[in-house]
Amino acid sequence: MRLSLFVQLACALPLVISQGAVFHWPDPLLDSVEAQLYVDHLSPLSTATLNCRTRDLSTVAAQWLRMGFHDMSTHDKETGKGGLDASIIYELARAQNIGLGMRKTLVDYLSSPNEYVGMADVIAMGVVMSVFGCGGPIIPFRAGRLDAHEAGPEIVPQPDQDIDSHRAAFVRMGFNESEMIALTACGHTLGGVRTVDFPDIIDVNKPPRLVGIAFQVPITFDNSVVTEYLDNSTINPLVVGPNMTMASDFRIFNADKNVTMQKLADPKTYNSVCADLLARMIDVVPSNVKLTDPVLPIDYKVQNTFLFPQGGSLAFLATLRTLQPQNEDIRAALAAPIRNVTLRWASRTGNFCPPEGCAAESFLLDYDTGSAMAELSGVAQWAYYHFNATVDLKTSISHFWFEIDPKNGTAPYVVDNHGTNFTIEQDTLLYDARRSEYTPQKYTMVAAVKNQGLASVSTYSTIQGSPLDPIPVNGSATIHFTLDPKHPPKDGYTFYSGTISEKSLSNTLHATVGGKKFSQWVPILSTAGV
Ligand code: HEM
Ligand SMILES: *[C@@H]1O[C@H](CO)[C@@H](O)[C@H](O)[C@H]1NC(C)=O
Ligand SMILES: *[C@@H]1O[C@H](CO)[C@@H](O)[C@H](O)[C@H]1NC(C)=O
Ligand SMILES: *[C@@H]1O[C@H](CO)[C@@H](O)[C@H](O)[C@H]1NC(C)=O
Ligand SMILES: *[C@@H]1O[C@H](CO)[C@@H](O)[C@H](O)[C@H]1NC(C)=O
Ligand SMILES: *[C@@H]1O[C@H](CO)[C@@H](O)[C@H](O)[C@H]1NC(C)=O
Ligand SMILES: *[C@@H]1O[C@H](CO)[C@@H](O)[C@H](O)[C@H]1NC(C)=O
Ligand SMILES: *[C@@H]1O[C@H](CO)[C@@H](O)[C@H](O)[C@H]1NC(C)=O
Ligand SMILES: *[C@@H]1O[C@H](CO)[C@@H](O)[C@H](O)[C@H]1NC(C)=O
Ligand SMILES: *[C@@H]1O[C@H](CO)[C@@H](O)[C@H](O)[C@H]1NC(C)=O
Repeated sequence: MRLSLFVQLACALPLVISQGAVFHWPDPLLDSVEAQLYVDHLSPLSTATLNCRTRDLSTVAAQWLRMGFHDMSTHDKETGKGGLDASIIYELARAQNIGLGMRKTLVDYLSSPNEYVGMADVIAMGVVMSVFGCGGPIIPFRAGRLDAHEAGPEIVPQPDQDIDSHRAAFVRMGFNESEMIALTACGHTLGGVRTVDFPDIIDVNKPPRLVGIAFQVPITFDNSVVTEYLDNSTINPLVVGPNMTMASDFRIFNADKNVTMQKLADPKTYNSVCADLLARMIDVVPSNVKLTDPVLPIDYKVQNTFLFPQGGSLAFLATLRTLQPQNEDIRAALAAPIRNVTLRWASRTGNFCPPEGCAAESFLLDYDTGSAMAELSGVAQWAYYHFNATVDLKTSISHFWFEIDPKNGTAPYVVDNHGTNFTIEQDTLLYDARRSEYTPQKYTMVAAVKNQGLASVSTYSTIQGSPLDPIPVNGSATIHFTLDPKHPPKDGYTFYSGTISEKSLSNTLHATVGGKKFSQWVPILSTAGV
């Protein structure tokens, strides 16, 4: 099955971007976003729009794309305020944001944000996935948007406004006239107008009593909406009426005497102009926000690292994920000897480890396909090298790196976090994956604290849960940990535990030990060896 996937996608053109965001472990934001775009092939974000899935007489993609535009469209380029900042969560009651699609979109997104990825980044990823899911180009995604905590001004463009208001509104957002025309033509390819929400556009009382009219049929990401407008065959109700007061697309498409629309009649131009403008649209953010470079599939991603005391040593589990490119001859790759990947680490104190480092070989290698977008970005599959190292308890571990022998004639090389090594900041507060317990009913998280005889220890965990109902709710919570009677002190560590709601999507452990603060990100609620 996997093989047929390779063959099928062998001709796909990878996304060409000169500079992608550099992943310096640990980077919870890039780590999470990259996983959502390219790895998790089961999440709603990476699957819901595929095949331009229909919903509510429209498509999931159209609902996601419209939310992205409406959230962005409160930006004011002069003041730098507003933009794609998830303020739409607080603006849903407004007539400007009418429609079932808006609420459904937020429900689709509820499990995607975490402590490091805001809803604004999720809305922007949703725009990328909407275009991709309907067969359009891959829009580069930059991460790092910040969520607003209140509504923005009520200034989303309305279909009954005149062309000068629309020009002014788009200039306010940072788009000139031809960009306004193109962006609208790029958006009004997916979905359409619903009668219940816009009875002034589609008359409910007049036969044939349509429930809605699509901008173009079939709904897919292409420029039919442009060519059909130009050849007078369009069914777009925002062009042909019947109510010309509401025919905003007619006025917008005509604004420069069809010059822009005629350019967009070329499908290649349409795709590249739309990719560019939609990328700019999701990057319209408040001026205090700094976005990363575009997030591409990451080669050599360290993940699932767990360090905890066990049987007189420290157990150190880690996984190195490597990327198998689409253009690698899969048959040759399968026949070749598997490359040898070695984990190496240095002692935290003293010189227990020799100068070349202590070493552990990978004990398990497995493979997985990525998301649909990973495959179209040139990733054939991910390879996971798992490690289970035994670290000396007293001298501990300060940093680690990997040595890879490709065994294909190329010399062995080192993977060391771009020259900085993978640094273990501290070993005072550890997430104890082995002592933690996960049952379908509850998750008991255990923190191991090296208290060194210090009396004042306080431990808690901040979690980002899945806010279910009503929208919006703030899903973060603080769980206080207490001394764990099931696990008496051992190997110089004291154990504290707390019960985490199974709805938690990510959490960070915190402790104050002897007045010093420590924290430890726990991205996934898993226990060691499961
Ligand atoms: C002056 C500019 C615009 C006006 C007045 C406008 C107005 C509208 C209206 C009235 C609808 C029907 C909504 C419904 O019935 O649920 C609609 C749908 C839609 N708009 Fe716009 N729009 C504008 C620009 C844009 C832009 C720039 C984009 C995105 C780049 C966009 C994306 C969409 C999408 C995807 C839908 C379909 C939603 C669905 O089927 O659920 N629009 N627009
Ligand atoms: C709008 O901006 C584009 C660049 O994106 C430029 O090529 C075009 O000339 C501008 N159009 C107008 C009407 O200013
Ligand atoms: C056309 O739309 C305008 C603005 O919503 C509305 O006032 C008017 O009644 C509509 N006309 C018809 C014929 O539906
Ligand atoms: C633009 O094209 C449309 C569709 O062919 C046509 O109805 C309209 O009159 C044209 N506008 C101008 C200013 O030529
Ligand atoms: C479309 O209609 C407009 C206005 O009626 C006309 O000027 C134009 O030539 C028509 N275009 C085509 C391709 O028929
Ligand atoms: C892998 O490399 C390490 C040294 O880096 C070596 O000790 C080990 O024997 C090698 N394993 C295989 C299977 O080649
Ligand atoms: C061997 O594999 C490495 C990485 O896996 C690759 O960069 C290199 O180009 C390969 N060398 C040859 C000769 O195929
Ligand atoms: C990375 O680790 C190696 C081995 O311990 C060490 O020689 C090197 O100086 C470290 N590099 C940095 C930038 O810390
Ligand atoms: C949630 O509440 C916490 C504490 O009140 C606050 O710091 C955080 O910014 C809020 N998050 C959101 C997304 O509103
Ligand atoms: C790691 O190795 C230890 C023994 O050295 C073993 O008890 C443990 O189950 C191993 N863990 C995993 C995840 O393989």
